[in-house]
Amino acid sequence: MDWGMKNRLAQVIQPDGHCFFMPIDHGYFQGPTRKLERPGETIKPLLPYYDALFVTRGVLRSAIDPDNTKPIILRVSGGTSMLGKDLANEGLTTSIEEAIRLNASAVGMSVFIGSDYEKETLLNLAKLVTEGERYGIPVMAVTAVGREMEKRDARYLGLCCRIAAELGAKVVKTYWCENFEKVTNGCPVPVVMAGGPKVETDREVFEFVHDGMQKGAIGVNLGRNIWQNAQPVAMIKALRAIVHEDASVEEADEIFNSSKE
Ligand code: 5RP
Repeated sequence: MDWGMKNRLAQVIQPDGHCFFMPIDHGYFQGPTRKLERPGETIKPLLPYYDALFVTRGVLRSAIDPDNTKPIILRVSGGTSMLGKDLANEGLTTSIEEAIRLNASAVGMSVFIGSDYEKETLLNLAKLVTEGERYGIPVMAVTAVGREMEKRDARYLGLCCRIAAELGAKVVKTYWCENFEKVTNGCPVPVVMAGGPKVETDREVFEFVHDGMQKGAIGVNLGRNIWQNAQPVAMIKALRAIVHEDASVEEADEIFNSSKE
């Protein structure tokens, strides 16, 4: 691996081999997602606790202070909306030159495996990897499920992660699921976990993140279960302890309760 690629990966994956990515890209198909209406304000108190920000170029330029930020993972796919026919019909929205201009440490895009647009999204991933390799920019593949959240099982997600890695993604973002070791064992590149829609209890989030880390994930790319929580700072402190300090679910719960404002 060339120096630039290694260096960019080291900006987003910490020396312990783990990572805490903060996604605020949801607006690219959902519009003003709850608690993300003003993304710059939402993430301000969270800044000390995440390792990299997953964001589109529009929100980056309009809401993020270039003098005070963390490494950027630029979302470069889109072209669909909640109101359209099929969320899977995504294309590449942002060039690699734009990623370089914005000093991105990595780029990320979604693939929709099993959908009508499987082939297009996978070929777009391959194209992005080819361009990323040319300039030393790592690609994070997002194994998206669109509205079909019930697809999230180890067989499906394991297949998606492996295909994304085969096409050259340097990191794969997927959902946690039961038997998560089947997903990580079949994927030759690091796997990070998304959170998905906000779950009922805080403890559930600690439990699945802890389980996923024990089963081979290197970290999280987790948004709504943090910034839609009434106590976002306490939540991110607790989750960061699981990811970077090997905290147990009980310890995370204690950190959460003692950090509440
Ligand atoms: C949205 C995304 C998000 O980055 C991903 O889903 C993680 O966020 P959350 O934890 O809120 O699910 O790809 O399109």
